[in-house]
Amino acid sequence: MKTPEKKILSLICLALSLTVGCSGPAHDNAAASDSSAVTKDSSIISEKNFEGTVNDKAVKLFILKNSKGSQVAITNYGGRIVSLLVPDKKGTLTDVVLGYDSLKTYQKPKEPYFGAIIGRYGNRIAKGKFTLDGKSYRLDINDGVNTLHGGFKGFYSQVFDATLVNGQTLNLNYISKDGEGGYPGALTVKVVYTLTDDNALKIDYTATTDKTTIVNLTNHAYFNLNGAGSSTITHNILKIDADAITPVDTTLIPTGQLQPVKGTPFDFTTAKAIGLNINDKNDQLKNGKGYDHNFVLNKHDTSKVVATVSSPQTGIVMDVYTQEPGLQFYSGNFLTGKTSDGKGGKAYAYRSAFCLETQHFPDAPNHPAFASTVLKPGETYHTTTTYKFSTK
Ligand code: GLA
Repeated sequence: MKTPEKKILSLICLALSLTVGCSGPAHDNAAASDSSAVTKDSSIISEKNFEGTVNDKAVKLFILKNSKGSQVAITNYGGRIVSLLVPDKKGTLTDVVLGYDSLKTYQKPKEPYFGAIIGRYGNRIAKGKFTLDGKSYRLDINDGVNTLHGGFKGFYSQVFDATLVNGQTLNLNYISKDGEGGYPGALTVKVVYTLTDDNALKIDYTATTDKTTIVNLTNHAYFNLNGAGSSTITHNILKIDADAITPVDTTLIPTGQLQPVKGTPFDFTTAKAIGLNINDKNDQLKNGKGYDHNFVLNKHDTSKVVATVSSPQTGIVMDVYTQEPGLQFYSGNFLTGKTSDGKGGKAYAYRSAFCLETQHFPDAPNHPAFASTVLKPGETYHTTTTYKFSTK
């Protein structure tokens, strides 16, 4: 079995992992199946690395823990989930979200949206243009010819005021000024993260405005239920309760139609491996470079599971609950694995994460048939999304 050299190497690794981590190459499947290594890597996140000042506001890392030992680390820089430790089938805590080890890396990221609160508008608006009450607005063009995720200074790069309510709840507040990113009205936003004792991370969003505006908030956690940085997600099993998607053009803007999933690679109404049809010949998969599509949810009611993902390797199961009408399923097609700047020095490989972003439909302001994202003074935008973890 083990040669003396291997034994010595293992001992050195064990010692090193307590301080600096000891990760193998990104595609190393041996490391992938060792979820305890994942736990050690994630535990090295230092709260000190997140202390700083951005936009004249203090930035910190906040840790929520529940009675089961699960924990989530959130920074008020972008309201980001930095790590999320949940037990696998053996009870080993496993970090299921991709992220970085320090505020500095989040400020100069290869991937700007890791774990962030997305606003004012989740996903794309065509050519960064929309009209409201007869007035035209122009937004930042930060994704080819379109605007994406709030523009150059979306909420992912803003500092929220944070209040730790108790060890399991964190309140984040942010006032987005009138005109920020091109959006009308001062938008007062409150996001509450709660880690419940039944291993659910609940994200509750509220917003009000002083002028008629549009709003579509979400969270951009990059999940890997095998453990962050350990492997691709093509063997994670996904089920989405959606009979249709909103097909997109080559710039990922919805065409306005609803396309039934039946008989296509987009049919996740019965659970299947994410990778099963990902490389099929299909125009929509070609446009998205994989899955990068809004699924039209059959139910939108916070008491209903809209999607479930599980990992045969770790046994971790994640159920998603939301009242939003759409779910952006993104299969990590833009991750490259070229830099080892992930947590614990990991390189996040191509398709080593998936996102399930609950939302109103992309580009809704330009599609009157899509559910409205307009918010008027005196109204309150309120939506909740829960990611609940268990094992099987
Ligand atoms: C969303 C988009 C994707 C991509 C990711 C971030 O999910 O739909 O196209 O931009 O964000 O890389």
